[in-house]
Amino acid sequence: MNVPFFDIGPTHAAIAAELDAAWRATLDGRQFILGERVSAFESEFATYCATGHGIGVANGLDALTLILEGLGVSAGDEVIVPAHTFIATWLGVTRTGAKPVPVDCIASTGNIDPELVPAAITARTKALIAVHLYGMPAEMAPLQALAARHNFHLIEDAAQAHGASYRGGKVGSLGTAAGFSFYPTKNLGALGDGGAVVAHDAALARRIRLIRNYGSEKKYEHQIVGCNSRLDELQAAILSVKLRRLDEWNADRRRIAARYMNGLFGLPGLELPGVTEGAEPVWHLFSVRHAARDALADALNAASVQTMVHYPVPPHLQPAYAALGYRTGQFPLAETIAGTTLSLPIWPGLGDAQIDHVCTMIGQALAQPLKREARG
Ligand SMILES: Cc1ncc(COP(=O)(O)O)c(C=O)c1O
Repeated sequence: MNVPFFDIGPTHAAIAAELDAAWRATLDGRQFILGERVSAFESEFATYCATGHGIGVANGLDALTLILEGLGVSAGDEVIVPAHTFIATWLGVTRTGAKPVPVDCIASTGNIDPELVPAAITARTKALIAVHLYGMPAEMAPLQALAARHNFHLIEDAAQAHGASYRGGKVGSLGTAAGFSFYPTKNLGALGDGGAVVAHDAALARRIRLIRNYGSEKKYEHQIVGCNSRLDELQAAILSVKLRRLDEWNADRRRIAARYMNGLFGLPGLELPGVTEGAEPVWHLFSVRHAARDALADALNAASVQTMVHYPVPPHLQPAYAALGYRTGQFPLAETIAGTTLSLPIWPGLGDAQIDHVCTMIGQALAQPLKREARG
């Protein structure tokens, strides 16, 4: 049995006629940039996220960058970020000229540890970006309290968590603003790159709207120095179709996660993902941990089960950030996760038999001693 890491096939098959109609209507509409489809999706998505304003942008990285720019974050400022995240979280900060200040994670979920945040706060702290990594909401309540007490902005990197909730509140509505990615493999994915910002404050939303379109509200009048970061009409039309099915697809991801939890429980040396208290995750990824991760991945690959590693090297140890001067050992939990995490196949439509096959193969692999050396 073959189990691909990701397959968009069943998702698209279920909505093929609607996708065709969306594509055809966009073609016939003859407006491809900032037209009615982008406006419609922006308001649908803002409503879905329980916020007042949505702004379509070119990708998730731009969503984070534009939030920070919209808040006036710039060189000399500091932004607290998780040590364990996709590098885009940090890039959003460094693109503004501000400094990312990493904080290590909670062992069970890998999300930022609120107890370690106070030591990272300085007079220059302008914001904290909480990442709902793998679709698991971060522990937002203590972060919200710290943001209020120390007067900085709490921003959500919700690129992996469309539709998740925390203590009854939708992800995207839990801070000042949130950035989403619609990269094709995301829970809500476009047919190319795409992203969105959602925000509560009208003035902030207006600034971000200006920045994403050359600093302009009226053609050829430029109020501020902006950029070109727009979601296009075709992607918006597709996203509107898909948004209507998002809850259904997220429910299917929960079915898969529950079956993995059950099927993998108690296997020797295998750590299952932790769930944030009060959270309703959306399982963008289902990542387990094992000390012999690479050998386990090899054994699964040999059994036609595709896996991935999210992420093998944390941002503070990437060559791109060598100038920040971090060394191995400074964020030990993030480093341990990077060396042990393994993401299993999860996508709407993944069959029970395929899930059971993955569990059986993991059980078989762990029944014998696995070599612990990491790959070079
Ligand atoms: C946590 C996180 N933040 C930000 C991004 C950036 O999104 P994009 O690839 O659309 O720029 C991603 C996407 O891969 C992500 O996983």
